[in-house]
Amino acid sequence: MASLLCFLSVLLIALFPLCFSDDIQFIFNGFNDSNLITQQATVIRTTGSLKLTNKSHNVIGHAFYPDPIKIFDSSTKNISSFSTCFVFLISPSSDEGGYGLAFTISPESQFLGAESGHFMGIFNSTNDGNSSNHIVAVEFDTVKGYKETSDVEGNHVGINVNGMDSNASTSAMYYDDRTRGSTTEEINLEGAEPIQAWIDYDGLKKLLNVTIAPLDISKPTHPLLSFDIDLSQFLLENSYVGFSASTGKTSSSHYILGWSFQQNGVAQALNASQLPLPPNDSDKSKKYSLKIEVLLGLLSAVVLFLLGILFFGTLYRRLRNEETLEDWELECPHRFHYRDLHLVTKGFKESELIGVGGFGAVYKGVLPVNGAEIAVKRISRNSFQGVREFAAEIESLGRLRHKHLVNLQGWCKRKNDLLLVYDYIPCGSLDSLLFKPQNDVVLSWEHRFNIVKGVASGLLYLHEEWEQVVIHRDIKSGNVLIDGNMDARLGDFGLARLYDRGENSHTTNVVGTVGYIAPELARTGQASTSTDVFAYGVLLLEVVCGCRPIDPNARSGHMLLVDWVGELYQKGQILDAVDPKLNSEYVVREAELVLKLGLFCAHVRPESRPGMRNVVRFLNGDDRLPVFEYLYSFESARDEGVFSKFLEMVSSDTNQTLNYSSSVGHMSSISIEGGR
Ligand SMILES: *[C@@H]1O[C@H](CO)[C@@H](O)[C@H](O)[C@H]1NC(C)=O
Ligand SMILES: *[C@@H]1O[C@H](CO)[C@@H](O)[C@H](O)[C@H]1NC(C)=O
Ligand SMILES: *[C@@H]1O[C@H](CO)[C@@H](O)[C@H](O)[C@H]1NC(C)=O
Ligand SMILES: *[C@@H]1O[C@H](CO)[C@@H](O)[C@H](O)[C@H]1NC(C)=O
Ligand SMILES: *[C@@H]1O[C@H](CO)[C@@H](O)[C@H](O)[C@H]1NC(C)=O
Ligand SMILES: *[C@@H]1O[C@H](CO)[C@@H](O)[C@H](O)[C@H]1NC(C)=O
Ligand SMILES: *[C@@H]1O[C@H](CO)[C@@H](O)[C@H](O)[C@H]1NC(C)=O
Ligand SMILES: *[C@@H]1O[C@H](CO)[C@@H](O)[C@H](O)[C@H]1NC(C)=O
Ligand SMILES: *[C@@H]1O[C@H](CO)[C@@H](O)[C@H](O)[C@H]1NC(C)=O
Repeated sequence: MASLLCFLSVLLIALFPLCFSDDIQFIFNGFNDSNLITQQATVIRTTGSLKLTNKSHNVIGHAFYPDPIKIFDSSTKNISSFSTCFVFLISPSSDEGGYGLAFTISPESQFLGAESGHFMGIFNSTNDGNSSNHIVAVEFDTVKGYKETSDVEGNHVGINVNGMDSNASTSAMYYDDRTRGSTTEEINLEGAEPIQAWIDYDGLKKLLNVTIAPLDISKPTHPLLSFDIDLSQFLLENSYVGFSASTGKTSSSHYILGWSFQQNGVAQALNASQLPLPPNDSDKSKKYSLKIEVLLGLLSAVVLFLLGILFFGTLYRRLRNEETLEDWELECPHRFHYRDLHLVTKGFKESELIGVGGFGAVYKGVLPVNGAEIAVKRISRNSFQGVREFAAEIESLGRLRHKHLVNLQGWCKRKNDLLLVYDYIPCGSLDSLLFKPQNDVVLSWEHRFNIVKGVASGLLYLHEEWEQVVIHRDIKSGNVLIDGNMDARLGDFGLARLYDRGENSHTTNVVGTVGYIAPELARTGQASTSTDVFAYGVLLLEVVCGCRPIDPNARSGHMLLVDWVGELYQKGQILDAVDPKLNSEYVVREAELVLKLGLFCAHVRPESRPGMRNVVRFLNGDDRLPVFEYLYSFESARDEGVFSKFLEMVSSDTNQTLNYSSSVGHMSSISIEGGR
């Protein structure tokens, strides 16, 4: 009898998991009556939506299903399959929202000491990546740059094991089954439209799939991510499932509108018509309605103008009162609509392309409103990421105004593309005038002298006359544009700074153009006003000599222009360097001054170079250039940084040389790793 009882109990215990399989399953079409554990900023709104974070900076929110899920059996190591789907919406604050949300499987339903921002309220810098976390998260992130190697794009979906360094990640997209061969469509994780996500784990095949699509589209057949992972290696037997979200320097509200989960089965589909309405605080939707209002306003304005200005005035005031985004009109530089820029550049058509710079392609366009000609620089995704971090920076660049700068009129961000709108400068760049003049018109000495003075004055403004010190970092003839009065306008200022912020701050990348990079910049990666002065010095020599800074086929036999001029200076024959195309039609005193000043500025030692204020005084004849010795040869000092690096590059890559010497218009910037 006892043995029978014993047998029965053994049988019962053995069968227990099968008979009393407690597979967890739930569905929330809205969270009105849910019993989720919510923490920190997370609230359930009266409309039924789960609001993970509000739009304050550096807040964290969590919501977890109250019961842990027995995700695997530690004795058999058999891991459950599960499937979950949820609808989320990330509503950014003003222009740039921030950070993301993650579906999280974790041994705890709370994370003590977790950090906001990139850590999404799950990890902190101490435990990030530690295998004792036992956390697997699927992140929907809108900010790039947790690490250089991962999260290469702002708008991305990733699978993270025990840390924020994603094990798998891709930009947010979905496969559209409605088109033949299902094309991929990009999808912006933040915005006014809810997005549905499906996460399916196959415990037998050990495959984790993540799929997303706009709410009005049914589940695509192709998952966005499909990742081989044996979750039993990472998770604990009993794990909580839920969501974590955080904001950081930039912020968004993160909402979940519905959530369904099924262990060992397929999650019940959410019914879109039963979900709570999307929150009504999306700035994008406001912007949209605002746009319509403005459009309507303009339209009415035309009609009303005919009827009477008085009536128009009242309507305008009414419209103004309804505006919630005050910054819309005040925003400087103006924020353009992508659609409009797309239109004026004829869809970024090749025929409208007027140049390709280090940071992107430049297109010409005409604004229909006032017929003004603009140049639109399109900064491509590859060379520039994490645009959202830079809205403030762009705003500050937009406030730079000087007659020798190419003014930034406006900007536009779309997904990860940044479009910058500048004044259109008709005569093109200085290097095309010097090296590829139309109708072989040689740039006269008078113009050359005027141009170098203009550049000096623009650079002085950036270095000393504005409220902050702005280091240009890419002074070169390709970045000097010539306007209708043959005055110089310095372009692309501040871009390198933006570019650098997008990089991991621990690496020092030299940004600049080979030939203009000061030796200490190549060594340390530290740009300064004196590295700008160095590049300006090279530019001076280039303008007087009509030679490129580096030319392996130079008539002088010196590949480096600065070395050649330096040698002539030592020999007392500096005027031999003057561009023969000028046919001796130049002012000797001025040419000598500019050449010597060029050498002075391109001095190997940064502390010996003059500041831009002095440069302007020398050029204006207010001060006399001091007598200085110039005994340096970059070519013979091969370990002095970028010149030698460039020499290596030239010898190892003939194409580079060809590109360089045949380059027209804008030369491309080359980024070289810092010396360390
Ligand atoms: C956002 O949530 C945090 C944390 O609960 C709270 O301290 C803060 O006041 C909230 N901010 C707003 C704007 O509601
Ligand atoms: C949630 O409750 C509010 C009132 O408290 C109601 O207006 C709303 O319709 C409810 N939502 C759902 C999805 O039941
Ligand atoms: C565990 O998985 C194996 C095959 O993968 C299966 O034969 C066995 O029945 C499973 N055990 C339980 C308790 O589910
Ligand atoms: C990081 O998180 C762990 C685990 O939650 C916690 O024990 C630790 O105190 C946190 N560290 C800091 C510096 O907050
Ligand atoms: C991981 O965390 C555990 C427990 O908090 C700690 O003892 C261990 O030192 C950590 N490992 C690393 C590599 O930080
Ligand atoms: C995920 O990445 C971490 C850190 O790079 C690594 O330790 C871990 O083994 C990876 N896990 C999987 C399943 O690839
Ligand atoms: C995961 O995706 C693959 C295709 O990549 C598919 O074959 C598999 O059935 C999917 N598994 C689940 C559980 O959805
Ligand atoms: C979705 O909900 C609506 C209203 O509650 C109902 O009429 C409709 O049948 C539901 N659709 C599905 C597919 O369950
Ligand atoms: C959103 O709020 C505005 C007023 O702030 C209201 O006019 C509009 O109808 C609301 N939209 C929705 C979808 O509730």
